[in-house]
Amino acid sequence: MKWASRRVDGTIGLSDRDTSPRGRIPAEPPAFLAIFDGMSQLRARFRSIDDNSIFHELEEVVYDHEGSLLEVHHDLAPLAERTPGDWKQLFGGRAGAMDLPDRSGVWGKKEWVLPQIPDDHIVSLAEGWNPLLPSPRTAARLGLADLRLKLCGTTHTGSFKDLGMTVLVSWVNHLRRTGAPIRAVACASTGDTSAALAAYAAAAGIPAIVFLPADKVSLAQLIQPVANGAHVLALDTDFDGCMKVVQELTQDKTIYLANSKNSLRVEGQKTVAIETVQQLRWTAPDWFVIPGGNLGNVSALAKGLDMMYDLGLLTGKRPRIAVAQAAAADPLVKSFEKGLAPLEPQTARTTLASAIRIGNPVSFPKAIEALKKYNGVAESVSEDRLSDAAAHGDLEGFYHCPHTGVALGALEQLVEKGVIEKGSRVVVVSTAHGLKFSEFKTGYHEGKLDGVQSRIANRVQRIAPTYAAVQDALKARLG
Ligand SMILES: Cc1ncc(COP(=O)(O)O)c(C=O)c1O
Repeated sequence: MKWASRRVDGTIGLSDRDTSPRGRIPAEPPAFLAIFDGMSQLRARFRSIDDNSIFHELEEVVYDHEGSLLEVHHDLAPLAERTPGDWKQLFGGRAGAMDLPDRSGVWGKKEWVLPQIPDDHIVSLAEGWNPLLPSPRTAARLGLADLRLKLCGTTHTGSFKDLGMTVLVSWVNHLRRTGAPIRAVACASTGDTSAALAAYAAAAGIPAIVFLPADKVSLAQLIQPVANGAHVLALDTDFDGCMKVVQELTQDKTIYLANSKNSLRVEGQKTVAIETVQQLRWTAPDWFVIPGGNLGNVSALAKGLDMMYDLGLLTGKRPRIAVAQAAAADPLVKSFEKGLAPLEPQTARTTLASAIRIGNPVSFPKAIEALKKYNGVAESVSEDRLSDAAAHGDLEGFYHCPHTGVALGALEQLVEKGVIEKGSRVVVVSTAHGLKFSEFKTGYHEGKLDGVQSRIANRVQRIAPTYAAVQDALKARLG
């Protein structure tokens, strides 16, 4: 079988997965790609989530319509001219691509993400194609048929934010290259968005401004945008306070908003659903469990699933979605407990899962839709539970961030409550790399985290440099 891949210059080549016995590149592209001729006509637009008749062109600098959030809308009719099999073949072919942008997990699905951008305006750092690793010991402990972790932190800046930022920064790059007067991109962040924005903006040569809540992000998260040359502004407030400031600043349309309120971000992030289903050989699990803060990511997960159902790549029973929040910042859980009641903003309290310390989530309306469509639930998790859950996963070879700990803690609780049934097949979306949260890891194992019992702490033993001391130490451990 020949695997087609489009190079950056637009020509078609075969990737190294070409098993042709002659091994030479044929003059003609593989026949199946002809099915996709005419796809260059595809064009996405912004659409109000509250009124399907309100559209804005992506060229407009606009983030809402009279207070209603926007989504990136794709006209499904031309996409549906291709069969589900055609799409699977195209996306499958690009999975083996060597060159960017096809090699990117996001841009390998360009027709569903941002079809009208020229390839040479794309700013990609090879995001996506994150591992979907089995977690058999945790699955056995919880009585699940299958548990996999979608490791979105195994990526350029160490979090899932790269998936959305490549789309947003690429589009800003395109706008600037076609004459738009955009001077800079700006975001408020709990640490990961700023790291992604700074890296992609630096790659594109676009100035970046980031607002961080002072002393509320990890050291690794703080130094990432510093290293990438962003203008880093630490404010004496929380994330919600930073969000207010950046929204005021970006009233000036020459400074482009890079938070997930800007639905271009969600377009890239939705590929996590498509990629996961593709890795499961185009099947869906029974449950997705995902940590939620500003709630862009759960909205994106649902949007990716929607598109696969709408275009027939998935049929039958829909997976359910569980959103996991830290008990210290759980406005969605509070709404869920009251039957999806309107948002009551909170002042988010301190949590080890600092990136989801958000009390007034911007994408709340989209998350409510996601929960309705996917028979979803929301679950809050204590500091103690999230810490142990992350540590249990680490003993299976992972290196979980505290937010993934929140998702794993919620999974445990939902299984205990019988909401997630034994024998289910579950995918947990792991949102960041544990290496960004060394303070959390060391604090846990040294037993120094407030309100955390560190039940399975693994203490470093300091011993005398003698064979006898080593023997004693090993005896205590190995018996
Ligand atoms: C590591 C991590 N996990 C989860 C989230 C939650 O994503 P969202 O804010 O889109 O709900 C964030 C970002 O806020 C994050 O940085």
